[in-house]
Amino acid sequence: QQQPPEIKNAPQVSASCKDCRSKSIFRFILSAQSVLIKSLWFSRSQLNRKCNGSEKAIVTQTNTPLGSKVVYDGEKKRNLKINQEMFSIFPKENPLSNKTWQTCSVVGNGGILANSSCGKTINSAEFVIRCNLPPLSNGHRKDVGVKTNLVTANPSILLDKYGALTGRRCTFVENMCQYGNSLLLLPAFSFGLNTAVSLRALYTIEDFGSPVRPVFFNPEYLQSLDLFWRSQGMKATRLSTGIMMVSLALELCENVNLYGFWPFSIHPYNFKDLTNHYYDDKKGDTKFHAMPDEFKLLVKLHTQGVLRMHLGDCE
Ligand code: CTP
Repeated sequence: QQQPPEIKNAPQVSASCKDCRSKSIFRFILSAQSVLIKSLWFSRSQLNRKCNGSEKAIVTQTNTPLGSKVVYDGEKKRNLKINQEMFSIFPKENPLSNKTWQTCSVVGNGGILANSSCGKTINSAEFVIRCNLPPLSNGHRKDVGVKTNLVTANPSILLDKYGALTGRRCTFVENMCQYGNSLLLLPAFSFGLNTAVSLRALYTIEDFGSPVRPVFFNPEYLQSLDLFWRSQGMKATRLSTGIMMVSLALELCENVNLYGFWPFSIHPYNFKDLTNHYYDDKKGDTKFHAMPDEFKLLVKLHTQGVLRMHLGDCE
């Protein structure tokens, strides 16, 4: 058993806790910690055995051969037979295969990151994972950093922010520059609607010579992750991108550090109101995800020393 990490940044009840909303958040965290600490079950090797993210998280020509059928993880009745055109898009080599990084930052988009000054600390990790094409412009850099090795792109952003890439695509291509030559992970086979827009993103990137490297999430991997966390008591309709990325990091990285994971509207230390994201206040989908349950799970993993959750400011 691993010892719990130094709890420097862990949520703690403070005597200065002023209002009821804050108190109930802290009660929630404490109950999560005390209930969850009793059942020390998480094992990275089990996650690796059941999901094998380093081999399976990304669709490749090896794990998804020509003529095979992919089953959409969000719509189990939908499948797609892989034809030559689609097959030729898949990378031959798996970019994550046989890789282990010493330190990883997994960056959620929570408003808790605003004014955190965590940018340098996030950047200092060997491998940095971000979710849903978050803005890294000058105004945010001090708080969230800029280094990116892998970034996910939720198709709803491609639809809402970039007009589904059916019109002019320069803004999209320009915005991709923020992520350098990182992997751009698209859930092309999660829902039927995702496929065409993910392909348009990939073709746009290729046609404009953008350095980001688009790859597709493997629905078989996402399905296995869903089963894995369900077997551990998670009941959400769908896992959030954040928990998917944490799961992947737990297979790829020795030391996993989380930032921006705080799905609550009050800061845990200064009790100020928080926006949902560090860059806007668009609310998450509560029908689909169970963020507070996922947060409990992350607290549990922090308490076990499996990963380290950062909630405080960094400087
Ligand atoms: N997150 C969080 N607390 C917040 C906002 C986000 O913990 N206040 C984490 C969640 O794990 C989330 C991830 O950061 O999945 C990325 O945030 P966001 O882009 O808001 O995700 P969602 O819109 O919920 O989209 P998805 O369906 O891709 O998870």
